Amino acid sequence: MTVTNHDIAITDFGRDPDPAAVLDFLTEWVAGSNGVAEQHVADHADGAGTTLTARLDGTVVGLVTLRWTSNNPDFAAHNIPLVHQLMVVPGHRRTGIGTALLDAAERLAADRGRTTVGITVGLFDQYGPAQRLYAKRGYVPDGKGACRARTPLCEGEIVTVDHSLILWLTKDLKQLPSNRNRGEVGVR
Ligand SMILES: CC(C)(COP(=O)(O)OP(=O)(O)OC[C@H]1O[C@@H](n2cnc3c(N)ncnc32)[C@H](O)[C@@H]1OP(=O)(O)O)[C@@H](O)C(=O)NCCC(=O)NCCS
Repeated sequence: MTVTNHDIAITDFGRDPDPAAVLDFLTEWVAGSNGVAEQHVADHADGAGTTLTARLDGTVVGLVTLRWTSNNPDFAAHNIPLVHQLMVVPGHRRTGIGTALLDAAERLAADRGRTTVGITVGLFDQYGPAQRLYAKRGYVPDGKGACRARTPLCEGEIVTVDHSLILWLTKDLKQLPSNRNRGEVGVR
């Protein structure tokens, strides 16, 4: 199934008419518990984070969060917000929802004057779709190689491949089209 932009509604959590549905989605697909889901959005009221939710026929099918000050000091020093926790439910993947969420997140960052946006991606097979998605969208590794969290791995180091092994990537937002008639899904 191909989802056209007209089918997807993207909503800012701060203006969401049904925030409980977003917390349920976060609990099920991202956070693992209601308490962690609430923590995920706890900084949103004071503007430190923004979560955008994709709905299809009213049902939450995907989500992405922006942290306006990254936990990566290099990103924070250069005013590079972090896109994270991009998630699309398995039954709706490969239909353009991840693309729509990233379009909206990048546009929001650009509209707030940010010229670069950051993201991380894991190294193992589960992250293969995200690796391809980010590469196709112009995200470039930061040059430090694979890291465990923020610490670069060294030659000869023996590691367990898990979710903490990541690449840090950035995208130059100046390459985004400047006009607003780009066919993207607008954020409500
Ligand atoms: C990564 C993820 C968000 C992509 O969302 P999505 O809605 O399926 O992405 P899209 O439909 O917009 O796909 C856009 C492009 O990404 C790439 N892509 C997406 N899924 C892919 C897959 N299974 N295999 C190969 N490439 C894939 C393709 O290039 C695709 O374009 P195409 O369909 O024209 O070939 C989704 O797979 C997901 O939720 N994965 C689990 C969570 C995760 O890994 N999040 C990222 C953490 S870093």
